[in-house]
Amino acid sequence: MKTYEIALYPGDGIGPEVIEQTVRILAKLEAIELRKGDFRLRLTSLPWGSNYWSETGTVVPENFLERLRSFDAILLGAVGDPARIPDHITLDPLKRIRQTFDQYACVRPARLLQGVTCPLVGKNPSHIDLVVIRENSEGEYVDSGGRFKVGKAEEFALQSAIHTRRGVERILRFGFKLALTRRRRLTMVTKSNAQRYGYVLWDEILDELRSEFPSVAAEKQHADAAVMNLVRRPEEFDVVVASNLFGDILTDLGGLIAGGLGLAPSANLNPEREYPSMFEPVHGSAPDIAGEGIANPIAAILSAAMMLEWLGSIEAADCIRQAVASTLLQGAGTPDLGGHLNTRQMTDHILQSMGTLND
Ligand code: NAI
Ligand code: MG
Repeated sequence: MKTYEIALYPGDGIGPEVIEQTVRILAKLEAIELRKGDFRLRLTSLPWGSNYWSETGTVVPENFLERLRSFDAILLGAVGDPARIPDHITLDPLKRIRQTFDQYACVRPARLLQGVTCPLVGKNPSHIDLVVIRENSEGEYVDSGGRFKVGKAEEFALQSAIHTRRGVERILRFGFKLALTRRRRLTMVTKSNAQRYGYVLWDEILDELRSEFPSVAAEKQHADAAVMNLVRRPEEFDVVVASNLFGDILTDLGGLIAGGLGLAPSANLNPEREYPSMFEPVHGSAPDIAGEGIANPIAAILSAAMMLEWLGSIEAADCIRQAVASTLLQGAGTPDLGGHLNTRQMTDHILQSMGTLND
């Protein structure tokens, strides 16, 4: 029997609330899987974040990357306690995890499930089933630039983006391979009409890769057109590959049209599997509802499903996804979905569906 070593990083705000419920789902799943003799999970919870900061003055211990290195995967809740600590301090470990563990493919599915209200008029689950692949390691989010003549009338700031041939090629190839397992459409999102160096490199590399994947229909869209098309014709999108910045922007929209941030999971993958990958809801720590016990746990639960699939337990991942789908179909929901269930009650429903599916 395989044992997966999982690092839990619940974090701040609603992070620990949704991770606590995800652990209940994983425990139930493990019980089902143990009957089949498939796998065991060993969960190690790491008490990092704003409380750790109150005690020690830092949000993570100095050796946090070494500690994480030996795990098979990392499951993160959310970080951020903006009333007490500046975001660039609480979110810094995330950036360092993604970069140190070369988690260059950020995978964010947006699929509208039956029973969930879509904010787009006339669209139903047959129209919204796409995956955004966000380049997660370079592009516009590399710390490169500076502020000059600060405070003076002639002050200026320089912010550069770095696009490397290796970085662009590997993320596009990742997208093409994913498209082969889906509807074989790939849309690359850049802004090469206005930025003639970095994004033109993306254009050229896309064209070079077409012959490697002749069965995939690959097209380019500029980011401004892409956001408009995602709203008016979401059914035309299957796999979307975007640079770091555009991927960030598109995935909030993707999450929204699929029912909201409370449902949106994500994975930060190191496709070569040299390092652990990290799984987390797209949402943040939601300080506006933290402590009320009403956060939607589904984004975190579906992130755990992505983790199990990545680890090779596709059946286990499907069990979670089916249970979530059937729960939503029955109309169960937390307040963000227009329902009245709290975090724990929502999870109870999913646990019940898992039981029914596996009895
Ligand atoms: P947010 O995603 O935390 O919240 C945005 C809105 O969505 C809020 O109204 C919130 O109540 C709602 N929401 C989010 N998740 C929900 C859930 N599971 N159930 C129900 N409602 C939910 O984004 P915001 O407010 O911009 O950021 C809050 C903090 O989180 C900041 O410190 C920010 O830096 C941090 N953050 C952390 C991320 C991470 O850990 N990966 C990602 C995004 C933001
Ligand atoms: Mg974002």
